Amino acid sequence: MSERKLPEGLHIDTLAVRAAVDKSQYGENSEALFLTSSFTQPDSETAARRFSGLEDGYIYSRFTNPTNASMEMRLAALEGAEACISTSSGMSAVLLLCMGLLKAGDHVVCSQSVFGSTLKLIGSEFGKFGVHSTFVPQTDVAAWKAAVRPNTKLLFAETPTNPLTEVCDIRALADIAHNAGALLAVDNCFCTPALQRPISLGADIVVHSGTKYLDGQGRVVAGWVMVVFTSPRLAVIDTSWVESISFQAASRPPLTIKLTTAPPAVCWRMASSCCGWLGRPG
Ligand SMILES: Cc1ncc(COP(=O)(O)O)c(C=O)c1O
Repeated sequence: MSERKLPEGLHIDTLAVRAAVDKSQYGENSEALFLTSSFTQPDSETAARRFSGLEDGYIYSRFTNPTNASMEMRLAALEGAEACISTSSGMSAVLLLCMGLLKAGDHVVCSQSVFGSTLKLIGSEFGKFGVHSTFVPQTDVAAWKAAVRPNTKLLFAETPTNPLTEVCDIRALADIAHNAGALLAVDNCFCTPALQRPISLGADIVVHSGTKYLDGQGRVVAGWVMVVFTSPRLAVIDTSWVESISFQAASRPPLTIKLTTAPPAVCWRMASSCCGWLGRPG
């Protein structure tokens, strides 16, 4: 099943409902759920092409599955990303993003106010593998700039932060990252794309945890990593990067069934929780 073809320029509320995989051959009105670990192949030649990546097609649900793919397409459309991978949790998304990008000797600049597990993952766990990190005050743009080194590969920000709700200047951090040949990743789970789209402000990667506002109903643990490929400065990120992190994603959510309804709801839920005192982006 391929991505549903939609006209350009749709409003975010429409994308939240319509962006998805095509309907199945049965033309179901509601979204079909694919509760299967794997997919039969029409013949061995097709299977060989699909397994070697020469042809698109569903193989095995750890790689992808139409139910997860619908959620990925919908979130990517809302965030303005070109690719999205679902993971078992928000921390799994941060882990996969770091595993996919970093190697021993690389350096990360990260806000000192990010969610505690992210702080521990980047500062301690990746330190064990020779990845260096510097933690800076969230709102101090000069400190972010001063922390950059020749081996800096990634700037990681969460805005607003959990639990202090500190914000940062995404566009300024994107400029610092790109001038240094590095990438900016933003954890957008507190705002959701209904209120903030980091990619439109220059971020290269967005991560989400589903347990906050995205689901908003306490139903499921899940996460996502989203990327943009288009800029030449992003030679480091190509489709093989997405493939490689998707291979590591032993980590798919238990099919994001309950979440298929979350993006359609997120826009009005965020708008109503802001009670009119925060403006919504058009
Ligand atoms: C801002 C932020 N990012 C990431 C996470 C991790 O997400 P998860 O609990 O889905 O692994 C959390 C969890 O509270 C969070 O608050």
